[in-house]
Amino acid sequence: MALVSALATGSILGWGMVPLIAIGMVYYQYNTADPESHPTNAKDLYRMYDFIVIGGGSAGAVVASRLSEVSDWSVLLLEAGGDENEISDIPVLAGYTQLSEMDWKYKTSPPSLSSYCLAMNGDRCNWPRGKVLGGSSVLNAMIYVRGNKQDYDNWARLGNEGWSYEDVFPYFIKSEDNRNPYLTKTRYHNSGGLLTVQEAPWRTPLSLAFLQAGVELGYANQDINGENQTGFMLPQTTMRRGSRCSTAKAFLRPIKNRKNFHIAMHAQATKILFNNDKRAIGVEFLRNGQKSTVYVRREIILSAGAINSPQLLMVSGIGPKDHLNQFGISVIKDSPVGDNLQDHVGLGGLTFTIDEPVTFKKSRFQTLSVALEYIFRERGPLTNPGVEGVAFVYSKYANKSNNWPDIQFHFAPSSTNSDGGEQIRKIVGLRDIVYNTMYKPIEKAETWTILPLLLRPKSSGWVRLKSKNPLVYPDINPNYFTYKEDIDILVDAIRIAKDVSNTKAFQRFNSRIYATPMPGCESFLFDTYDYWECAIRHFTFTIYHPSGTCKMGPIEDSTSVVDSRLKVYGVKGLRVADASIMPIIVSGNPNAAVIMIGEKASDMIKEDWLKQQKISSR
Ligand SMILES: Cc1cc2nc3c(=O)[nH]c(=O)nc-3n(C[C@H](O)[C@H](O)[C@H](O)COP(=O)(O)OP(=O)(O)OC[C@H]3O[C@@H](n4cnc5c(N)ncnc54)[C@H](O)[C@@H]3O)c2cc1C
Ligand SMILES: *[C@@H]1O[C@H](CO)[C@@H](O)[C@H](O)[C@H]1NC(C)=O
Ligand SMILES: *[C@@H]1O[C@H](CO)[C@@H](O)[C@H](O)[C@H]1NC(C)=O
Repeated sequence: MALVSALATGSILGWGMVPLIAIGMVYYQYNTADPESHPTNAKDLYRMYDFIVIGGGSAGAVVASRLSEVSDWSVLLLEAGGDENEISDIPVLAGYTQLSEMDWKYKTSPPSLSSYCLAMNGDRCNWPRGKVLGGSSVLNAMIYVRGNKQDYDNWARLGNEGWSYEDVFPYFIKSEDNRNPYLTKTRYHNSGGLLTVQEAPWRTPLSLAFLQAGVELGYANQDINGENQTGFMLPQTTMRRGSRCSTAKAFLRPIKNRKNFHIAMHAQATKILFNNDKRAIGVEFLRNGQKSTVYVRREIILSAGAINSPQLLMVSGIGPKDHLNQFGISVIKDSPVGDNLQDHVGLGGLTFTIDEPVTFKKSRFQTLSVALEYIFRERGPLTNPGVEGVAFVYSKYANKSNNWPDIQFHFAPSSTNSDGGEQIRKIVGLRDIVYNTMYKPIEKAETWTILPLLLRPKSSGWVRLKSKNPLVYPDINPNYFTYKEDIDILVDAIRIAKDVSNTKAFQRFNSRIYATPMPGCESFLFDTYDYWECAIRHFTFTIYHPSGTCKMGPIEDSTSVVDSRLKVYGVKGLRVADASIMPIIVSGNPNAAVIMIGEKASDMIKEDWLKQQKISSR
């Protein structure tokens, strides 16, 4: 295993390092064998379990872990993918898991209502989703952000009892093992939970310039997961000792010896089965080409993520009636499954150049000493997750006094050119003409980027079936930018990003915007509203946060799919717990919120079956 991984790592980082990495990995595994060893893939399953969790991602790993704490409950976790490996562990290689076997490799359908993703091959944006134990927490950029207090208070205002900030806050705390003392001193953080959270141990000098720029613009350098989300910060990440801390590592590895718990990997659920009473009684699944059925005594928890959860509900008979009829699927419950698809989207490839050799260029870090530092000291450039700064700021359209910023910045000391065209252009699916015109000429330059991101888009989309066959990928329509307001906010966000470049902190490096126009937008004058709108509709950049497709809401709300205890309306014995239940996407990277949803779902299930008090300790 170590050698195979070393070879794979070597092919990414440079062949010279293979023998060294192999030795290092053997050493590393020898030294850390016990606490970090992987869960086993159960071969012989029972015929029936108390609980079946479908999908072992950010939420599902948490649910399976917490439910199996009750020793007289048997729990099965069905996961379509396999296990993590040493590549997915290395923060700097996050982009290399995309388009690999760990990725479902979804793409958006060509746009119909408005235009977006035009700089991508076929006008389609890639939508990576984790197909691996740990789900998208194995592919993600590890940024740990909880969202804004008002997001949750707003969920509660919409009729979701138990989901106000005050209600959900204890669940963020329950998971957290924060390794930064400056944060654990405050009431907003905890140590001792299962999920390790920390700053990346290594960063470029530009990260500090970013924080200083924030101060110059009137934004405090403060804990954006604390009292006040507004501000600039070095990102907190789901990282443990310099490596990725996925939810599989955090929540499943420590419990691998539980007798009442099975994990079945490479097991893809294809249908949820119901009896005449509309109670979920089992799951059909495919494993190694073999079709099987497993039955459930108490409940099924669907945690397959914002694309697969709605798809599986629809092929199982829960979805918009007419849509299901179209495919000859017998309707168990007419339900708005697949609607309310929300995502965070912004402008990709916005590039600034500087004169000093301090940016994160792949070629600069392909050295033996860098590899050694990672393997033996768990430090150095390989622990860099790419993003070195986050900020929450206000566009001119936002109400600055309500502490609910409408823009997020991700700052990176690199841009689309910085890996010499090797991986970023591929995972984004960028057209050759765009890469060759804009980025190839600056492959040797020192560049940085800000990704201006819309936190609460007005536009939303849908996931629909293309077939009743669960193996056929669904139709994914984010419908970005159907509302002009979304473009307005982003264009204003670009203005603020330019202000960042113009601060003294960045002028010290002689920072300036890179002004080669985007192919397709040459007819607009650079830096005008129309130019930026065109650029946004071309280099449309999702940061992979699809949510909302099995919306939580009160029964009076005809757009809701699950109630505030995450039970699917119209059937029994079935809940959804993952990013798809968000009624409105949170204002920030959703992984921490999804883990919170997993924690809260588990506690609600325990409350319902054990009548025990809130926030279980067992
Ligand atoms: C490239 C990328 C970068 C990101 N960066 C960040 C970031 O830095 N910070 C952040 O907060 N968020 C980030 N996100 C988003 C975040 O990771 C997701 O919102 C979160 O992981 C979603 O969790 P989930 O439980 O809803 O779904 P997932 O974590 O996607 O889990 C779903 C699981 O179900 C499995 N599954 C699906 N269908 C079936 C089936 N039929 N049978 C069995 N198993 C099935 C899948 O294989 C998967 O393991 C990123 C996402 C991506 C893809
Ligand atoms: C939150 O931070 C912003 C910007 O740093 C500041 O203007 C505001 O007064 C702060 N609000 C609170 C309630 O602390
Ligand atoms: C802005 O928010 C504050 C605080 O929530 C509120 O009192 C005020 O009415 C809002 N202003 C506008 C113009 O909406």
